Amino acid sequence: MGTAIVITSGKGGTGKTACTAAIGSFLACSGSRTLCVDMDAALRNLDMALGLSQRVTFDYGDILSGRVSPEEAVTAHPTLENLYFLSAPTELPDDAEAEGFAALTETFRQSYDFVLLDSPAGIGRGFRTAAAGADMAIVVATGDLASLRDGQRTVQELRALDIQEIRLLVNRVSPKVYRKLKRNLDDVIDTVGARLIGVVSEDGSVAEAGNLEIPLIEYGAKRAWDQFDNVAARLRGEKRKLGRF
Ligand SMILES: Nc1ncnc2c1ncn2[C@@H]1O[C@H](COP(=O)(O)OP(=O)(O)OP(=O)(O)O)[C@@H](O)[C@H]1O
Ligand SMILES: [Mg+2]
Repeated sequence: MGTAIVITSGKGGTGKTACTAAIGSFLACSGSRTLCVDMDAALRNLDMALGLSQRVTFDYGDILSGRVSPEEAVTAHPTLENLYFLSAPTELPDDAEAEGFAALTETFRQSYDFVLLDSPAGIGRGFRTAAAGADMAIVVATGDLASLRDGQRTVQELRALDIQEIRLLVNRVSPKVYRKLKRNLDDVIDTVGARLIGVVSEDGSVAEAGNLEIPLIEYGAKRAWDQFDNVAARLRGEKRKLGRF
């Protein structure tokens, strides 16, 4: 049985989609069958981060309405073995569809090692739909004050939804900015209130790869490449040192 992980943040723009795509690619490339699901209905962009925007035909709404089977709706990545993608619908799902999603996540857990659910920003219905079937959450926060407070609130919501394992990914870390703000990683961890799964530096390659619609794992990155690889390895149960920033 695979693990379903919701990637969430509360605050928008912390890097959930970029992290989902990168972690999913590294998991797949180390041999884990991995399904990345865009849960950001209407505002989807995980397809672009994975370089798949021209290849997607169906979305999870098509499965929930019975139009296609889960196997038919999923797109296999053309160059990254073991990586699969499921798009979000172009319209916001109704209550019934949102409720049906947890059962669908359960189905996917039977055929994938990892199911990564790229949550929309906020703690509204889209977030709850994404979290409903998840057995683990990764909260993506930056060192930004608003991101920390929203991250803390998100952790509380995830606990209320009875998600047992909640981990923190601190993204876009810039030592220069942290020094200026007199902030350190411990402050971020203490404020958000979840155990660390990894730290990813501010790295221009992440945005470049996203804009060019090339998966980061194929584009390359100076700092973020190893850091995302480390997060994926930890999810697979390996021990990896945090490294320097
Ligand atoms: N480590 C990083 N270094 C530099 N840029 C990054 C990093 N992580 C993400 N970005 C960039 O930040 C922007 C926002 O990222 P992304 O779209 O993944 O955030 P999000 O949390 O999914 O946003 P939303 O809440 O709108 O869904 C993108 O341009 C992305 O390329
Ligand atoms: Mg996003």
